[in-house]
Amino acid sequence: MCSGLGATSDDSHGTPAGTAEAVAAVVDPRLFHPLGLLGLVREVRVRHRVTEVEIAIPSGHHGTGELVEAVRRAVADSGAPPAEVGLVELSEAEESELGARLRSLGAGAGSMGRDVGPGQAPGGRHGAEGPAQRPNPFSDKSSPTRVLAIGSGKGGVGKSSVTVNLAVALAQQGHSVAVLDADVYGFSVPAMLGMSEAPGVLGEMLLPPVAHGVRCISMGFFVPEDQAVIWRGPMLHKALEQFLVDVHWGAPELLLIDLPPGTGDVSLSIAQFVPRAELFVVTTPQAAAERVAQRAAVLARQLRLPLRGVIENMSWFTADDGTRYELFGTGGGSQLAEHLGIALLGQVPLVPALRSGGDEGRPIVVSDPEGEVAQVFAELARRVVAMPPVRVYRSELAVR
Ligand SMILES: Nc1ncnc2c1ncn2[C@@H]1O[C@H](COP(=O)(O)OP(=O)(O)O)[C@@H](O)[C@H]1O
Ligand SMILES: [Mg+2]
Repeated sequence: MCSGLGATSDDSHGTPAGTAEAVAAVVDPRLFHPLGLLGLVREVRVRHRVTEVEIAIPSGHHGTGELVEAVRRAVADSGAPPAEVGLVELSEAEESELGARLRSLGAGAGSMGRDVGPGQAPGGRHGAEGPAQRPNPFSDKSSPTRVLAIGSGKGGVGKSSVTVNLAVALAQQGHSVAVLDADVYGFSVPAMLGMSEAPGVLGEMLLPPVAHGVRCISMGFFVPEDQAVIWRGPMLHKALEQFLVDVHWGAPELLLIDLPPGTGDVSLSIAQFVPRAELFVVTTPQAAAERVAQRAAVLARQLRLPLRGVIENMSWFTADDGTRYELFGTGGGSQLAEHLGIALLGQVPLVPALRSGGDEGRPIVVSDPEGEVAQVFAELARRVVAMPPVRVYRSELAVR
């Protein structure tokens, strides 16, 4: 699209518009907005055999390899000679300016937003004014982000596995996706996503690491491995608020929240911070549908979140000869959905590779993209995206 450089002569210097535009349009892999919009392109100079590019980055940016790669690709696609990309660090003053800019972009403006417009969360008003008035990018009505809270009646049903694979499947379909691992006592999402990078820092904001196209924040980044989280209510409430407010989420289309099992303080805090969240319940085929339904309904009522769908996990095992074995019984998901008056959105088979993929940090939708499970998650992702918007809180949702 941005070529037009074919005629570049041997001694041509300067900045053919196409190449400069292509560099400006590169979306920074950790800041989630185009470099040009963020004012980070310092120089684009097309020379005889090389294109010199200089990009400014904050010191706490942990995705520079990806950034350089993306810039090189953009330059090559524009038809210019190969890029030599130099990175320079922003000054402290420039960093704080960038922080304020990101806040204004994150708070309701959306990734499509070129600027903060009228009626949008006023980063300009709140951005630099201290912690008390930091905008919560997900509570605002103008937020472009759909928030999917993934819950379950109890632990071990595969809630985190479903969250991670659904998130990656959504990213594979081209959506911008974030995961908040709110299972603060049993965090597992960073390991399942194979994240080795720590969150970056920009002023008072955290930049979430990204893996398989999914950005994520988890308690796992902040407590040493093998150490239990001993925080209780108020501290956790504060931590969760920071996870939502002090993280540069970059206005993703979808934020998936891996809730802790059951109805606890953490879930209540989340619901308070993200009142627009939609609740999805993961269950297994053998679960006594009525009891799980009761729990899910209680959860939805307490959190005041609309119940949107059921996802059944470990539904069957397919043997090499194609025979399906329903190891854990059958019908749990559909009965639960019926009890709750919502849809059964998908059934995920039991596959050893799903477990090992989680252990190794390579979700099965990445390691076996053509396989049975990946197809299930792709379809689940499509169904979730296609759901009509929530209309009203359905207070009538009770177990019949
Ligand atoms: N469909 C599946 N097939 C095989 N193993 C699974 C499946 N779903 C989950 N597991 C495994 O079961 C265990 C519990 O899953 P996890 O996602 O951690 O559950 P939860 O978050 O509900 O506690 C993990 O070891 C996970 O790898
Ligand atoms: Mg879990």
